[in-house]
Amino acid sequence: MPSYSIEVNGKPQTVQVDADTPLLWVLRDTLDLVGTKFGCGIGQCGACTVHMDGNAIRSCSFPVSAVGDKKITTIEGIDEGHPLKEAWRAMDVPQCGYCQAGQIMTAAAMLESNPNPTEEQIEATMSGNICRCGTYLKIKAAIKAS
Ligand code: FES
Ligand code: FES
Repeated sequence: MPSYSIEVNGKPQTVQVDADTPLLWVLRDTLDLVGTKFGCGIGQCGACTVHMDGNAIRSCSFPVSAVGDKKITTIEGIDEGHPLKEAWRAMDVPQCGYCQAGQIMTAAAMLESNPNPTEEQIEATMSGNICRCGTYLKIKAAIKAS
């Protein structure tokens, strides 16, 4: 089985998996970073969102062999004092919680490149992250408060 050296949350990791293994399963099953969730598995729901060099990607549809030397950040790599996590807690955003890591990762990538997004920009960026519990209004409010 091939071996891949990747950097996750600032730590070098070497994993032995098939080339087409989605990054999501490397994170969850090999590295035990289970904050990143499996939803649809086909790039449609956003539950599996992580950052690659600061950009939001869908780890369920991204093969580990394509990561190379790009830096991966998961929800575990976002500081507990990050304004988004603080706003999420203060506004009690999650219901079941399942989608929320992906929501925060998408929002964090947006705020990195655009610290003051308009309401329309927030809606457009977040529209690909599905929440079955319908926490969309709270998510938007928490992003605005961050
Ligand atoms: S699990 Fe990756 S987008 Fe749904
Ligand atoms: S909080 Fe339940 S799916 Fe979003």
